[in-house]
Amino acid sequence: MSIGWMVVIPLGLVTLAFVWVKVEQKSSYNPSEPPTVLYYVPFIGSMIEFGINPVKFIRKNQKIHGNFFTFLMFGRRMTVCVDIDGNDFVFNAKHSCVTAEDAYNPFTKPIFGEGVVYDVPNSVLMEQKRMIKSGLSADNFRAYVPIFIQEVNQYVDKHWSKDEGTVDLLQSISEMTIMTASHTLMGPEIRSKLYEGVADLYHTLDSCFTPIRFLFEWLPLPSYYSSGKAHDELDRIFSSVITERRKHNGEKHMDMLDALMESRYKSGMALSDKHIGNVLIALLMAGQHSSAATTTWAMLNLAANPEVANEARAENEAKFGRKLGAKSFPEPSYEDVKDFVVLDNVVRETLRIRAPLIELMRKVIKPVAIPNTSYVIPAGNYIMAMPIISSTDEKYYKAAEDWVPSRWNTAEKEDDMDKATTDYGFGATTTSARSPTLPFGAGRHRCIGEQFSYIQIKTILYVLLSRFDFSLDPKRGMPERNYQSMVVFPEGPVLCRYKRRTS
Ligand code: HEM
Repeated sequence: MSIGWMVVIPLGLVTLAFVWVKVEQKSSYNPSEPPTVLYYVPFIGSMIEFGINPVKFIRKNQKIHGNFFTFLMFGRRMTVCVDIDGNDFVFNAKHSCVTAEDAYNPFTKPIFGEGVVYDVPNSVLMEQKRMIKSGLSADNFRAYVPIFIQEVNQYVDKHWSKDEGTVDLLQSISEMTIMTASHTLMGPEIRSKLYEGVADLYHTLDSCFTPIRFLFEWLPLPSYYSSGKAHDELDRIFSSVITERRKHNGEKHMDMLDALMESRYKSGMALSDKHIGNVLIALLMAGQHSSAATTTWAMLNLAANPEVANEARAENEAKFGRKLGAKSFPEPSYEDVKDFVVLDNVVRETLRIRAPLIELMRKVIKPVAIPNTSYVIPAGNYIMAMPIISSTDEKYYKAAEDWVPSRWNTAEKEDDMDKATTDYGFGATTTSARSPTLPFGAGRHRCIGEQFSYIQIKTILYVLLSRFDFSLDPKRGMPERNYQSMVVFPEGPVLCRYKRRTS
């Protein structure tokens, strides 16, 4: 090819792309819709800039366009809705206009399986949430706390057996979380099979739970086939455990599996065995990573701020009237864990600046007007809430990017959110979503795992702080956020130093 052509062809392609973008932007311009972020690559739009650092991208465009704007992402029009008005609009949008199932089901169905969560009409999901909540009662939590303690102790005895060392904190915490969650949600039978391949099956399903699946649900990646096989195998294992439990009818287990086996729809119908298994998989996928990410971020911040770790120890030593030490520490009850104030603030503050789920989406199925604006979002667009934008906004919190758990001791704990509640079918939920900090979402899709996560995370932190002192690895320091997965984890390797406490 001559040098002339080597110049003309790329130039021609760039010009074509430029014209395409201009035509695309002009034809999609509509003054009644929120403004669209300028982009330079046709079809792909702002996907790359958003994907690299979504928080930076959204903050930059919030300054230019305000709290409502649209960007193009691989042919999809995504309307971002931020600040407390945006949070309220997305989380409380009318279900007849805007749905989570149309946004999420294409990529959750192959992992969760059919007939549960986003693969059923919203009214059925609300009933399934009610059933799940029956496994998250105070009585269940009373049974779960000793299991959390036992699992963490077993883990550190085995894996952190030296007097001091450096560990990959994310890996360790993820393993502790999967053990505590599997044991309490799925029951001791499944927990005992973790080392017999169940952990590998989870891992296979997990590897498919990536944002790429949202964009390319049709792409025949090999991992999609292996996830189907892993799902079938898990179904088989759950079904054999359920059959075994039925044989011992009347023997009560305080776990989620029992709660689901006993639950009924309003019609009186029970969940099928297959759907029980699918709900359990969904819960593990929904809860495990969010809790593991939050616990890891909390531990990293405690390692970087030993005075807060000491404050938590001092509070608990005063409460139990004895020293916490590597060899022995008082075993708290569920009520004790609920009352750990410093650790409560630690979790709350970690969720404020490092919420694990930062992009919460819905699909618009009927045009929907944004209250108090002239904007109407057309059907076909997606809308996205990002509460992390308001929860790290200086307008609401002083030194908003800093990790300061004690800020929750003061009035900041009480925002001026309207406390009226609505019951969508799974218990009362605060009606308004006009709060700057919403790590568990709001409205009909609000998380039902909040209390479980607080108890699980606070218990893990309590055991670890009782037994070890922590510091950040001096070479690695505090990791940045990794935005490449569905859940925002710290960028690996997440190194942390531990030292066994002497007393
Ligand atoms: C720190 C831990 C957790 C965080 C930060 C978290 C956060 C969230 C958020 C933001 C949503 C709303 C999604 C949306 O509006 O699109 C959600 C939904 C959900 N969460 Fe959690 N979650 C956590 C742990 C858990 C746990 C442990 C469970 C189960 C035991 C759980 C079960 C669910 C379920 C079933 C939904 C779906 C609700 C629906 O769409 O109606 N979560 N979670």
